Amino acid sequence: MEKQSIGTNATICPMPVTLVGSMVNDRSNFMTVAFISRVNMNPPLISMGLNKQSATREAVFKHRTFSVNFPSAGMVAETDYCGIASGKTTDKSGLFKVFYGKSPYAPMISECPLSFECTVVETHEFATHTCFIGEIVATYLDSSCVTNGKPDPAKIDPLLLTMPDNQYWRIGKPVAQAWNAGKKVQKRS
Ligand SMILES: Cc1cc2nc3c(=O)[nH]c(=O)nc-3n(C[C@H](O)[C@H](O)[C@H](O)COP(=O)(O)O)c2cc1C
Repeated sequence: MEKQSIGTNATICPMPVTLVGSMVNDRSNFMTVAFISRVNMNPPLISMGLNKQSATREAVFKHRTFSVNFPSAGMVAETDYCGIASGKTTDKSGLFKVFYGKSPYAPMISECPLSFECTVVETHEFATHTCFIGEIVATYLDSSCVTNGKPDPAKIDPLLLTMPDNQYWRIGKPVAQAWNAGKKVQKRS
């Protein structure tokens, strides 16, 4: 198959778009973050990259707790706005209905079907971003997004992003069951 070199900024698959909650100047603040991923099973750890100009980076350094909220596709305008406006100069606290779990420094968004409450366990400095490793200490899921006792991705309807075309997407149809689809290959080899 013929290949072409396309630089280094392409994400081959859509990334989940999240709203990271923190307290900035004693008010709740939400920053759009797509550089985020699960990195350990037990304890449940995630990593996220926050640019060094963001108000959220400072707040998470200070309070060592934060939230990760997963907006549904219908929240695209508010989510995009949180990625354009900074809490350094803009009050974003009135955009959403906020609730709290264990920490007063990790505001969460009622309108988001799924929210993680996290504590910082490690930080790593890179050229433009700080990588925070956070432990998920609690998860809050809308009861309306549960099927057979599990979170239902179709009901959560998460917002996704591709780069460098900078498009928002929503998930499509399931393809196969993971840790199962490969078994027929296993039998062949
Ligand atoms: C779709 C989208 C995804 C983004 N993902 C990230 C990200 O993963 N990391 C980051 O540092 N900034 C990201 N940004 C930019 C921040 O959201 C932006 O700098 C924001 O204004 C920071 O808000 P704050 O200063 O209130 O913390 C993203 C913006 C958009 C629109």
